[in-house]
Amino acid sequence: DGELSLSRSMINSSDKIIRKSGSSIFHHAVEGWKINSSLVMEIRKNILRFLDAERDVSVVKSSFKPGDVIHYVLDRRRTLNISQDLHSLLPEVSPMKNRRFKTCAVVGNSGILLDSGCGREIDSHDFVIRCNLAPVVEFAADVGTKSDFITMNPSVVQRAFGGFQNETDREKFVHRLSMLNESVLWIPAFMVKGGEKHVEWVNALILKNKLKVRTAYPSLRLIHAVRGYWLTNKVHIKRPSTGLLMYTLATRFCDEIHLYGFWPFPKDLHGKPVKYHYYDDLKYQYFSNASPHRMPLEFKTLYVLHNRGALKLTTGKCR
Ligand code: CTP
Repeated sequence: DGELSLSRSMINSSDKIIRKSGSSIFHHAVEGWKINSSLVMEIRKNILRFLDAERDVSVVKSSFKPGDVIHYVLDRRRTLNISQDLHSLLPEVSPMKNRRFKTCAVVGNSGILLDSGCGREIDSHDFVIRCNLAPVVEFAADVGTKSDFITMNPSVVQRAFGGFQNETDREKFVHRLSMLNESVLWIPAFMVKGGEKHVEWVNALILKNKLKVRTAYPSLRLIHAVRGYWLTNKVHIKRPSTGLLMYTLATRFCDEIHLYGFWPFPKDLHGKPVKYHYYDDLKYQYFSNASPHRMPLEFKTLYVLHNRGALKLTTGKCR
């Protein structure tokens, strides 16, 4: 019926390939990779049944008025007030309206990027998407610097910028955003309660410093729609990770999607330890039930799609 179906057996068999075969089969698949344009189009069409990334990538000014009260997407009992600052930073129209690219990079944050030498290749794509305001300058040789679209969970303010406790943290943040110029800064502000203060501070700093970055705040339906798409394709994710969300959105805008920095495993194929993030010492329990994500399952799904030519997953070195 033309539906993309990622059956459990396909996922299990790719799991075996990853676990048993060592690097040879996996690299072989990378060597022989070829885009499957009809599959790319089919996936785009099927995702469009669940969401339209052009629209769902961000709410717009006309979606709300200042003072409106909305329910958090993943915690319906709690509410958020749309502040004056937040409203003033909502885009007039979708920042992705009519934007189409031949090739895109979606860059995850795995330590697998270290020593990859992938920086130049990543920067050669027409559109580069990054996650969680990951630092780039110090890692340029491995991760590149081009950032056309970058996500920022509110928790990043605490984790990477000291909760804006002192002026140095705020300056570091403003400097990081000023490097983005007019790129899209995508802030999932409506997911769960807890980060609203941080989002307010971020918004205030953007306004105060007249930063050019184009803010976007995902629609209230996006995460459910993305989850719905993957569930319909038998991928039982709990909550899509930012990386999977970005791939799902990119299918709307990009003909060829290349993924880097996706490796939610503590070791590489040769048994060498891999950091969770290429830039910090955060530890992550990949298989914990407490985690909101199922990154290893997501990875296997992406690996199946790689083998079918729907996307290209790079987990080794770039030449
Ligand atoms: N990722 C991965 N392997 C890792 C780390 C990250 O595949 N070792 C991918 C995931 O898809 C993740 C994305 O890269 O969503 C961005 O990484 P990160 O910023 O660490 O995401 P988290 O904050 O951990 O998770 P999220 O924002 O999805 O809640």
